[in-house]
Amino acid sequence: MLMLTTPYTDNCYLLAIESSCDDTSCAILKNDQVLSNVVANQKIHEQYGGVVPELASRAHQSNIIPVVHEALKQANIDKKQLSAIAFTKGPGLMGSLLVGSSFAKSLSLALSIPLIEVHHMQAHILAHFIDSGQEKPEFPFLAMTISGGHTQIVQVDDYHKMKVLGTTMDDAVGEAFDKSGKILGLDYPAGPIIDTLSRKGNPHAFTFPIPKAPALDYSFSGFKTSVLYFVQKQQQQDANFIKQNLEDICASIQYTIVEILFQKLKKAVKQTGIKSIAIGGGVSANSAIRKRLLDQQDKGWKVFIPPFEYTTDNAAMIGISGYYKFKAKDFSSLDVTAQPRIAM
Ligand code: KG4
Ligand code: ZN
Repeated sequence: MLMLTTPYTDNCYLLAIESSCDDTSCAILKNDQVLSNVVANQKIHEQYGGVVPELASRAHQSNIIPVVHEALKQANIDKKQLSAIAFTKGPGLMGSLLVGSSFAKSLSLALSIPLIEVHHMQAHILAHFIDSGQEKPEFPFLAMTISGGHTQIVQVDDYHKMKVLGTTMDDAVGEAFDKSGKILGLDYPAGPIIDTLSRKGNPHAFTFPIPKAPALDYSFSGFKTSVLYFVQKQQQQDANFIKQNLEDICASIQYTIVEILFQKLKKAVKQTGIKSIAIGGGVSANSAIRKRLLDQQDKGWKVFIPPFEYTTDNAAMIGISGYYKFKAKDFSSLDVTAQPRIAM
């Protein structure tokens, strides 16, 4: 088993790769500071209404070298200055993860510097520790990670000591946004579109049921079905129903999704007594979720919302997770493999 080590230096210059889904990203960090964070979005999936795994891995293959070059250029760093390479081990799409992990392993071997594996969902949480001028959360805190692939409430006791308190039993919250949007004829990803349209709509115009799920878990598949049945029924009476009520429908869908998220989050706060709350993942860009969280400050919650560029998938969050592992000398061996499903 080959494991590389690095000589001790005052500063850690880390190159991080993220390729778990449909964004190819490379970041360069100097300790907890982001020197560059380049993200190549894959537009190809829009026409299919969702991420096509085969196309995603092919696009990663063509994007990865230019993205790494650009990140090094923007950071004004030479490869020889790097202290370590961090990469996303999982969870994610196998074909996508393989591109990033193989690249990271090869570069680590070529430069003879350590390799650091990072858990994608832990990274969404640790994005809060990037030096961005914002206050960083203190341990312990609760993190609600909400993305196109995940919906979790996590108790964070330390940088790499995290416990999942609740998770989705079926669809992720991002899918609830995207699939509801598809029913309404909106483009993919529909989450940001629903967010924008909701601003002009009445959140109480229509009522959707709150799905039942045990303890702190979530369920969104029933919600999507209730949106489908509701729209189908209304359209039988009025073929223009969606067109004439789009903003109200979006606002009502968004209101219900936020309600589902916060009912469980409030329960988790009550159960743990922890009132420090951080959000992460693509859906945390949602304006209603951000507002609802900020409103909770009146109830004594301390809330942490990451800068916009670190909410959706990006390599800077992989870099900051790698940095804390680097400090702990928690390096990976070169026979590490990508893992599409991986526990926290
Ligand atoms: O974290 P992310 O970039 O990728 C995954 O790991 O899944 O999250 C993407 C998800 C998509 O479902 C997208 O619709 C959703 O985040 N999203 C939003 C907003 N911006 C992105 N959902 C609701 N409101 C938004 N403003
Ligand atoms: Zn993500």
